[in-house]
Amino acid sequence: MTDTPEFHDRGLSLSLARVSEAAALASAKLIGRGDEKAADQAAVNAMREQLNKLQIQGVVVIGEGERDEAPMLYIGEEVGAGTGPAVDIALDPLEGTTLTAKDMPNALTVIAMGPRGSMLHAPDVYMDKLAIGPGFRDGVVTMDMTPSERVNALASAKGCSTDDITVCVLDRPRHEATIEEIRSTGAAVRLITDGDVAGVIHCAEASTGIDMYMGSGGAPEGVLAAAALKCMGGQMYGKLLFRNDDERGRASKAGITNFDRVYTRDDLVTQDVIFAATGVTDGSIVSGIKREVGYLTAETILMRSKTGSVRRMTYRNPV
Ligand code: FBP
Repeated sequence: MTDTPEFHDRGLSLSLARVSEAAALASAKLIGRGDEKAADQAAVNAMREQLNKLQIQGVVVIGEGERDEAPMLYIGEEVGAGTGPAVDIALDPLEGTTLTAKDMPNALTVIAMGPRGSMLHAPDVYMDKLAIGPGFRDGVVTMDMTPSERVNALASAKGCSTDDITVCVLDRPRHEATIEEIRSTGAAVRLITDGDVAGVIHCAEASTGIDMYMGSGGAPEGVLAAAALKCMGGQMYGKLLFRNDDERGRASKAGITNFDRVYTRDDLVTQDVIFAATGVTDGSIVSGIKREVGYLTAETILMRSKTGSVRRMTYRNPV
């Protein structure tokens, strides 16, 4: 018998917003200062300090890296006050370090929390990702389809022309062929320079005008994006990509045995979770940190998959 309390997502969710707010506020003074590392470190320190105040027995399952590579918030690090429910935490204290350093849109602080064992322990390798928003039958687009087949399938499910579809893709040389094929259907491509957690979330927010996300990016970011879509609705698929034996070794160490598996959203995040993201720079999901003399204001999106609730909060803090 254990006396570990259950994970009560409702009570913990508001505390989670505090954690992501603190990280964003801490990185504010480094926006546009050209120093990615310092911005990341400030966010990491603040996130860790806030996490350690929560009444949880937390373990970081998606974090800043492996124990020997990351001094803080490494994978496996225990966080929280040590009392309360046993939870898994996926975090990216600064998703878009370059975006922050250059003061470009869509840098976020991101954190998700769920009961122990609720999230894939994704190694730090690439993941091929495909996501769409809510309201479509399961499997309307799949990993097996080519980019143009996906555009055509989504357009017919939406009852629109392929010209009316916009696909978000990370602007990388490795995506050149994909981008060309998407454009050949008449669809538009919204290129982002970084930040594919936000890229995936865009699919679930009609106001962004993005219908689908595709392409490869970090696998840890894939789990965070799946946590967000589990709250907002929408479909996502992810397949780990390995470039060498070292990366396969990382996956084995993380407990992955099937290297060819296509994970669905609910394989990436298997139980109900809570998710918070705070804007660092202005973005389509939340505004970035606003400065006034004597104050900083942060906007946070806070979501619970159990209820599908999406809450937006602004927090003005004297500095
Ligand atoms: P950072 O926050 O570490 O700068 O990562 C940003 C990011 O753009 C992620 O959103 C994305 O998953 C990954 O980098 C893509 O990796 P790469 O830059 O190697 O294509």
